[in-house]
Amino acid sequence: MRPVVPAGPAADAAGGRRRTAIILDCDPGHDDALAMLLALARPEVRLLGVTTVAGNATLAHTTRNALAVLTLAGRTDIPVGAGADRPLRRSLQVADHVHGESGLEGAELPVPAIDPWPEGAVELMAHLIGASSEAVTLVPVGPLTNVAMFLDAYPTLAGRIAHICVMGGAIGEGNITPAAEFNIWQDPEAAARVFASGRPVTMIGLDVTHQALFTLADAERLRSLATRTGAVFADLLRYFARFHADRYGWEGSPIHDAVAVAHVLDLGLVETRSARVEVETGDESSRGRTIVELVDPADQERLAPNAEVGVRIDRERFVELLVAAVAAFP
Ligand code: BDR
Ligand code: CA
Repeated sequence: MRPVVPAGPAADAAGGRRRTAIILDCDPGHDDALAMLLALARPEVRLLGVTTVAGNATLAHTTRNALAVLTLAGRTDIPVGAGADRPLRRSLQVADHVHGESGLEGAELPVPAIDPWPEGAVELMAHLIGASSEAVTLVPVGPLTNVAMFLDAYPTLAGRIAHICVMGGAIGEGNITPAAEFNIWQDPEAAARVFASGRPVTMIGLDVTHQALFTLADAERLRSLATRTGAVFADLLRYFARFHADRYGWEGSPIHDAVAVAHVLDLGLVETRSARVEVETGDESSRGRTIVELVDPADQERLAPNAEVGVRIDRERFVELLVAAVAAFP
């Protein structure tokens, strides 16, 4: 297996249409895997590369999962950079109670047909952002370790980041603790760095992703596509649904990470509000809490918003988008 080489600026012109250049930073993860398919399927975005981080599972697992999903989708042209194997200052605590030990339990995935990019996630981000003819949108849907490391390592390239659309945080709930959402909780120091970066940040938190339920009936629609990708994702979503049935009594799963990609598509699915977001970096009970103050337009000067925060999503359109994304692959 040879590592794939990132595409250069020549790949920018796609049928004359302007596409948002994105890098997906992820820890696959069931919902990460669907976010990846959505980013690959849609014409509104051009996926420059995928970077992986430890979170839902160890880095070895999340990287292998990313490579396997790209192999399944037949998109072995997308470079994958393996990133941080632990948070900046904390020890890693995987979410195997949600995603299983491998991070992507429930289905048989192909053996990866590609290797990771040899220099790793931060270098891959620098290479792709430096080579891009337009500013690049980062879509981090795991702990924010890689993004924080990139911002510190390449301050001059940070100005070429158009937007950072984060899946993480919440206005009013938690999932790993009563106070915090998993991605922010895992590496709160990295998250604080990103919210303080001065780049345009959107926070797609649990308040909106918990509205984005993909039901078991929706999963069966994927099976009835009668494709390998459809069958794999139907199985994955059946596994993912177990945790949400036990924990919340839901008949489906929130596809958290795909909401961040859906927002970047700019199809008007996700409603956001300006806000001031601070990340709690203290210990235990408040660790990783996002303190969100929604800012009225009249108060913008006084409260200096540092993010847009997702508050609502059109679930039906979101589900249709995901079904169509899965249907785009063999
Ligand atoms: C987030 O945590 C992970 O388990 C999911 O992949 C998602 O990114 C939701 O809290
Ligand atoms: Ca994730």
